[in-house]
Amino acid sequence: MGRKFFVGGNWKCNGTTEEVKKIVTTLNEAEVPSEDVVEVVVSPPFVFIPVVKSLLRPDFQIAAQNCWFRKGGAFTGEISAEMLVNLGVPWVILGHSERRQLLSESSEFVGEKVTYALSLGLKVIACVGETLEERESGCTMEVVAVQTKAIAERISDWSNVVIAYEPVWAIGTGKVATPAQAQEVHAGLRKWLHDKVSAEVAASTRIIYGGSVNGANCKELAGQPDVDGFLVGGASLKPEFIDIIKSATVKKN
Ligand code: PGA
Repeated sequence: MGRKFFVGGNWKCNGTTEEVKKIVTTLNEAEVPSEDVVEVVVSPPFVFIPVVKSLLRPDFQIAAQNCWFRKGGAFTGEISAEMLVNLGVPWVILGHSERRQLLSESSEFVGEKVTYALSLGLKVIACVGETLEERESGCTMEVVAVQTKAIAERISDWSNVVIAYEPVWAIGTGKVATPAQAQEVHAGLRKWLHDKVSAEVAASTRIIYGGSVNGANCKELAGQPDVDGFLVGGASLKPEFIDIIKSATVKKN
């Protein structure tokens, strides 16, 4: 089974009701490759999920940007995985570097979240990635392996997991990884999955790239053999997100 191209749009903490509706209109009017070719998932802030869900075309799906790591209850300000299930939200982004860095989420905590979300039937976009200091000191693979291990040692079924490799230095900076840099880490992660989990999981798990992806650089990145799609931040709020979705066709050749 080939790995279906995956394009996620992470809207982060942006938007008003009007702006969100405008983005959805643009997406709904777009001509994009069919669902057989590309899986498209957009991730609005929690408060806009119901309005986006009510308006969004049926071939695009929704992801939350986070959820609590256990059953809901007395956890002020949190959103539980149960609530996402209740709302019919199929996907959740977990372990984004903004949460790891700004909110001190540890790899273990992220691993717990992934495990709990999967146990409720949610699909997970699990983010990993190194800082600039870590890259410059030559320990990129080690960092992403530790982050991936905290997930791998807690789960056995990888069919609902997409790994997003997002170098911290490339996120929101306009400084995209080169296709060769992305391919090197993606291939390294796939080898890690092969050696530590199984050949089957390594072959079937999608590893997507995130960090300053835009309409101009997406095709070359999509051409890399181990790049199975993208997680897009800034450009997912703009019409060029459509061009990024269309880069899925690169894989057909
Ligand atoms: P960016 O963000 O595309 O704005 O760099 C990517 C992400 O954080 O998922």
